[in-house]
Amino acid sequence: MQTVSDTTAFITGGASGIGLAMARAFAAEGARLALVDLDGEGLREAKRELEAITEVIAISLDVRDREAMAAAADRTERELGPVRILCNNAGVGSGMGGMNLETMRYEHWDHTLGVNLGGVVNGIQTFVPRMVERGGPAHVVNTSSGSGLAVIGGAQFMYCASKFAVTGLSEAIGSLLKFHGIGLTLVSPGFVDTRIAETTRKLDPAAAEVHEMDPEYREKLERFEELFDPLGQDPDEVGTMILDAIHHGRLYCQPDRLMAEPIQARCQALLEAMPPETERDRQMAEMIDKTRQ
Ligand SMILES: NC(=O)c1ccc[n+]([C@@H]2O[C@H](COP(=O)([O-])OP(=O)(O)OC[C@H]3O[C@@H](n4cnc5c(N)ncnc54)[C@H](O)[C@@H]3O)[C@@H](O)[C@H]2O)c1
Repeated sequence: MQTVSDTTAFITGGASGIGLAMARAFAAEGARLALVDLDGEGLREAKRELEAITEVIAISLDVRDREAMAAAADRTERELGPVRILCNNAGVGSGMGGMNLETMRYEHWDHTLGVNLGGVVNGIQTFVPRMVERGGPAHVVNTSSGSGLAVIGGAQFMYCASKFAVTGLSEAIGSLLKFHGIGLTLVSPGFVDTRIAETTRKLDPAAAEVHEMDPEYREKLERFEELFDPLGQDPDEVGTMILDAIHHGRLYCQPDRLMAEPIQARCQALLEAMPPETERDRQMAEMIDKTRQ
């Protein structure tokens, strides 16, 4: 999309961090905004800030709630016009220290996968049929993570499961959306200075419990956060990069180089694990090429 001016953007996780930064960047270019989040107070503050620049509605909901999502879509389109930019961005981490094999529980799996993957699925299922029916120009932004491209720590296993799924989903559905004039950008941030650690502790009962019950763990976590905090990327810089990716119809938005080496090492190891090329491989590659044309 050459511009987001005079369009409507629906941004989940819009009360804070990367979601709020996207809202700021889009508003500066003249987009109307539907900010969607669980955090009612954060939403009120974000709305106060942005309504000085553009039309804003704030909707408090849980992205796992499909009925609420459909109602939010209806309300947004009634009040602000058709949604042309959908940002499936709301998410939680694993806590900086992640989960471990002794404390993992179904509750924690359900929360991490429900928000990080289920929220994206619900956004797509709610809005994409409307976008396809109207035709482009339109754009979908899915916020994954560097941890959706390569693994740097075992304790992030649930988070990685959710974010790798968002990566695969985005790459595949993006190739279908383009036939309808709809772009898709997969955002895979490295380390951005947001409230994600705090949000995760607050929202995920299992993560909060681990944090509370183990003082040693809490101390380790706090030391880790202190060490890393000054290195966090400014979310507004990420918001501007995402807007630029929308303008240029780019599939990938990589806000920093944190994961460059792990991605390279992973790809290298995968290629090295393959047997030498045979005639069958060449025939299959040709067939795949033909189906792509
Ligand atoms: N901050 C980073 O370093 C980083 C790195 C990689 C990926 N990400 C991803 O970026 C996205 C945005 O996170 P952020 O860093 O801006 O964190 P943030 O905590 O500042 O913002 C996330 C927002 O999502 C909202 N949210 C969480 N669960 C929700 C739910 N069930 N329904 C509705 N809203 C919900 C929170 O209330 C919060 O306002 C997430 O998907 C996260 O995984 C962040």
